[in-house]
Amino acid sequence: MRNLRRIGVLTSGGDAPGMNAAVRAITRKALEEHVEVMGIIGGYSGLMNENLIPLTSNSVSNIITHGGTVLYSNRCPEFKTEEGMQKAIATCKKYNIDAIVAIGGDGTFRGATDLTLRGIPTIGVTGTIDNDITATDYTVGFDTAMNTILQTVDRLRDTCESHARCNVVEVMGRDCGLLALNTAIASGAIAVCIPEMDFDEEDTINQIVRAKEQGKRGMIAIVSEGVYRMGAEGYKIRYGEELARKIEEQTGIETKFARLAHVVRGGTPSLRDRLTATKMGVKAVELLLEGKSNKVVIEDDGEITSLDIVFALTTDRMYKGTLKDGDLDRFSEEEIEQMKAICQKRRREIETLYQMSHEICR
Ligand code: ADP
Ligand code: F6P
Repeated sequence: MRNLRRIGVLTSGGDAPGMNAAVRAITRKALEEHVEVMGIIGGYSGLMNENLIPLTSNSVSNIITHGGTVLYSNRCPEFKTEEGMQKAIATCKKYNIDAIVAIGGDGTFRGATDLTLRGIPTIGVTGTIDNDITATDYTVGFDTAMNTILQTVDRLRDTCESHARCNVVEVMGRDCGLLALNTAIASGAIAVCIPEMDFDEEDTINQIVRAKEQGKRGMIAIVSEGVYRMGAEGYKIRYGEELARKIEEQTGIETKFARLAHVVRGGTPSLRDRLTATKMGVKAVELLLEGKSNKVVIEDDGEITSLDIVFALTTDRMYKGTLKDGDLDRFSEEEIEQMKAICQKRRREIETLYQMSHEICR
C-alpha cells in the first residue's frame, strides 16, 4: 500500500496461545519496513475508546514465549453497532492509522470486514484454539491447546488406571470437534463424541463393558462441548456430564467427569503456534505493503497464503449450513466451486479422523 505509515494491531475474541508471537512478528516486520505500529488494547473496544500504545521492537521483546495476549482481548458487542463502528473509524482517523491487522476468529473477521467497508483497510490473522475456520487448515493456538488437553488427559488416565475407573473429559472447541477428535486419537481414548458426527451411545457403552471384561482398567472418553441438548428452561445441557452418569449407571464402572474449560486456552505456546503465528504475522504486513485489504491469512496444505475475508466467512457458513439468501450472489461459479471444495476437504478430514478413532481407539 502506498503511504502505509502507521498500522494498528489488535487481538479479539477468545485469546489463543501464539497471539503474542503474531503481534511480535507484525510489529517487527512493519518496523523493518519503516511502518509504525500502534497496539490496540482490549480488541475492538480499545479501538472505539482510543486505548492505544505505540509498539516498538523492544516492547514486543520476549512476548513470543507468553500465553494469552499482551494486548488483551474481549468480546465487544458495541462494536457491532453503527455507532461503535463510527467511534472506531474516528480513532483511526485521529491517530493516523492507515490499516488494521486483527488477530482472532470469525467474529473478529466480521468486524474487520465491516471496517474495510467503511474505508479502513484490514487484514485478519487466524487466532483461535478451536481451528473452526473452514477456509484455513490451521488457526494459531490449536496445537498448544491440543497438547494441553493431551497432558491433562494423560494425567487423568494415570489415576483411572490405578482405580479402574472411566473418565469422561469435556473439551472446548465451540461447534468444531477437531480439538476433541485429535486429542482422543492421540490420548488413546476409548470413545469420542463431536458435534459433526452421529454418536452411537449404546455401542460405546457396550464397548466399555467389553473392554472391561477383557481386562482394561482405565478408560477415557472425550466429548466436545459443542454436543448438547436444550433443557426445558432454555439452557444448554452438555452431553459429557450426562454420558459419564449413563456409563456409570449402565456398566457399574465408577465414572468421573472433567470439564477442562479455559485451562486449555492458557499456557506457553508450542513451537508450531509460535512459528505459524510468526509466518502469518509477516504475511499480514506483506499483504498490506502490496496494497491488499480485506484478506485473511490462512494455511493451505502447509502454505501460508490468503483469501478474501468475505469469501472465507461465506465458505464457513456454507460448511455450517447457515448460508443466507443472496450470500452466494456476489461470487462466480468458479469461486462457489472453490468454496465447495474447501468444505469437502474439511468434511473429509473429520470423517477420516473419526473413522480412524473407531478403528484404533478401542
Ligand atoms: P472470535 O473472533 O473468536 O470468533 P467473537 O465472535 O466473540 O470471537 O468476535 C470478537 C469480536 O468481533 C466481537 O466481540 C465483536 O466486537 C466483533 N464482531 C463479532 N461479530 C461481528 C459482526 N457481525 N460485525 C461486527 N463486529 C463483529
Ligand atoms: O473460541 C474459543 C473458545 O474458547 C471456545 O472454545 C469456547 O466455546 C469459547 O471460546 C468460550 O468463550 P469465553 O471465554 O467467552 O467463555
